[in-house]
This record gives sequence, C-alpha cells and structure tokens, in this order.
Amino acid sequence: MRKKINKILGKAEIVLGRKKLLALPRYVQLEPTSRCNQECIMCPRNEADYDSDFGDMSYENYLRVLDEIPTIENMQINGLGEPLLHPRIFDMIKEAKRRGITLSMNSNVIWVDTPKKAQKLVESGLDILKVSMDTTDSKVYDEIRQSDTYDKAVAAVKLIVQARGCKHEPQIWFNSVILQQNYKDIGNILKLGSELGVDLVRFKPVDTFDIYKDKGIKVASQEDLFYEMKKVLSEFRDVKVKHNLGDLINNFSNYSRPEGDYPCFSPWLEVYIQYYGGVRLCCEFYSKKYDVGNIFRENFKDIWNGEKMQKIRHDFWKGKLGFPVCATCNRFGRNMEIYKKVKKFKF
Ligand SMILES: C[S@@+](CC[C@H](N)C(=O)[O-])C[C@H]1O[C@@H](n2cnc3c(N)ncnc32)[C@H](O)[C@@H]1O
Ligand code: SF4
Ligand code: SF4
Repeated sequence: MRKKINKILGKAEIVLGRKKLLALPRYVQLEPTSRCNQECIMCPRNEADYDSDFGDMSYENYLRVLDEIPTIENMQINGLGEPLLHPRIFDMIKEAKRRGITLSMNSNVIWVDTPKKAQKLVESGLDILKVSMDTTDSKVYDEIRQSDTYDKAVAAVKLIVQARGCKHEPQIWFNSVILQQNYKDIGNILKLGSELGVDLVRFKPVDTFDIYKDKGIKVASQEDLFYEMKKVLSEFRDVKVKHNLGDLINNFSNYSRPEGDYPCFSPWLEVYIQYYGGVRLCCEFYSKKYDVGNIFRENFKDIWNGEKMQKIRHDFWKGKLGFPVCATCNRFGRNMEIYKKVKKFKF
C-alpha cells in the first residue's frame, strides 16, 4: 500500500516539478561490493584515477538502506563490482524479496562453478539474472575482461540454465556490451544465447561516460556498426532467442542524450547507493565526488530533500546538463517517455 501511494505521489510531484518531495525513490541500484574478479577494459573501476576503495556493504548497513527507503519497487543489486563475491548476497536477495522488491542483478557468473552454486542462485528469489557475455571468442573475452575465463562463463550459464529447468524464474539474460573489440561477433552472441537457452540477449552500446573519448573501445565507425546490426538482424531472422537488435537499429541515433533542453527525471525516481553508503543520482556516476550524501551517516530523507538534491531538481527540470556524465547519458530514453506524458500537463 505504501509503495502504491508513493508511486502516485511521485508521479504527481514530477508533473508539478516539485523540488522538495514527499515521495521517496521507487528505484534503487545498490552496490553490495566493489570487489571484483575481472578487470574489464570498459569498466570505470579499473581506471587509474578511480577514486573509491574496494569493499563490501555490511548486512546491517544493507538492512538500514531497506529500512530508510521502504518505497523501493525495483532494485538492481550490483554496482562496480561482482555481486556474487559478497558473502551474504543470498541473504540480501532474500530480504529484499521478503519486502516485495523486484530484483535484478548483473553478474559475470564466474563464481558459479558447481551445480550446487547454480541451484543456490536459481533458488535465491532473483527475478532477472543478467549475465555479462560480450563475445563468443575466448581471446576477445580475455582482451575485454582481462580474464582467461570464457569457458568458465559458458559452463556457468549451462549450469544455471540446467538448475532452472522448466521453471520461469529467474529470467536469464545476456547483457552484451558492444565495443570496437566485439561488434563483429554480435551474430555469434545471439547464436550462443539461443543455444544455451537464455531468455533474452540485450545488446548495449558501450557507455563512454565523460572519460573514454580516446580509449578505442567505442566502435570507430558507427556506420559499420549500423550495417553489422542490420546484417545480423536479417541473417538471424529465425533465431529462437529474443533480443533487442531491432530496437537498437530503430533508435540508432538515440544512443546518446538528445539535443535540446529535455529534463532528466532521475532525481525524482531513483538513487544509486555505494557499498560505503555514498548516494549518487544514477549508475552513470562512477566517482565519489558526485556523492550527494552518505546514507550510513545521514538520514536518507535529509539527503533526498537536502539543498544539493533540490538544486539538482531545479536545474534538471530546466533541462540543464548538470554534470559531465549527463552529456553522454545513454539511458535517456526513459526520460523522453516521461517527458511526453508530463508535457501534456505542463511546459
Ligand atoms: C559494472 S558490471 C557489474 C556486474 C558484474 N561485475 C558484471 O560484469 O556483470 C554491470 C554491467 O555493466 C557493463 N559495463 C561495464 N562497463 C560498461 C560501459 N562502459 N558501458 C556499458 N556497460 C558497461 C558490464 O559488462 C556488465 O554487464
Ligand atoms: S564490468 Fe563487472 S566484471 Fe568487469 S570489471 Fe566491472 S564490475 Fe568487474
Ligand atoms: S541525465 Fe543521465 S546520467 Fe544524468 S542523472 Fe539523468 S539519467 Fe543519470
């Protein structure tokens, strides 16, 4: 009931453009740990000037987050780290489910090396498991993830699919980041997903944030990428697995933030919480310099309605960029959907 009221209130406060909110976040991304067993070339945690330490959120602090934000409808339970390395990840999932939260998790699944572990993961209560699978070539996997574990990742997916059997939960997706290093492999990734029996292959163009301008990870010729995707779409017309290639092609020009003063509604809807309690606007914020507060040191409501957040809402409502990462935001699609609805009432 509380969540339903919060949802209605939140929608009204967006339409009204309120800066101080009665509603609390509906969506949370939470980082159980920032420790990892891989060192991917596109991941900000591996940059020389990455400014966070590596560590775990304690279970007690995790409960504190859930207590302070009782309105969470949907939680993504990973940050910049491998969530399955957290010693209490399954307790965390169980507790969130007990509180009626829909849960998804990105993982490289290297931790899953026995049928027993696969069973544990499948029975955890997780709604969606998004497995990172960026290639079907073990050398490219090693190049991207700096980890000679392609075979382990494939074996883990097989164990997980087997453990799920004919049940429908969790949904098992591939989350495949498109990079210069792997874009010619898109078709094979689709084929692999289909053969392994995953439910969806979700391709995502690499996010270059505001730091990867010259790193050589974004596909150098976007035209080549476009034609590669079109080719794969027609060659793999009959592939059994669902995928988002059609959507990506149709929205090819929307990979980045659209031109114009469009508002970002993220500060009305969500927060990204670091293992040490740092609260950030969304998962694009990879640096602690953008923390708007610390949920383990301050009352969450004071952060959510503090001066910083009110100023951010004020600026975002006017369509101001706000932060360097906002200029390269590739998760702006949801904002455009909300904008179309809000526009009917205001603007
Ligand atoms: C940061 S990881 C954390 C979870 C886990 N360690 C994993 O790799 O799945 C979450 C997802 O973000 C993806 N990712 C990492 N860097 C990215 C980038 N620059 N752009 C887009 N996705 C990225 C990863 O491939 C992974 O699928
Ligand atoms: S993408 Fe995931 S596995 Fe790779 S370094 Fe980042 S957190 Fe670790
Ligand atoms: S514009 Fe994008 S990066 Fe910036 S807060 Fe909004 S969703 Fe996050």
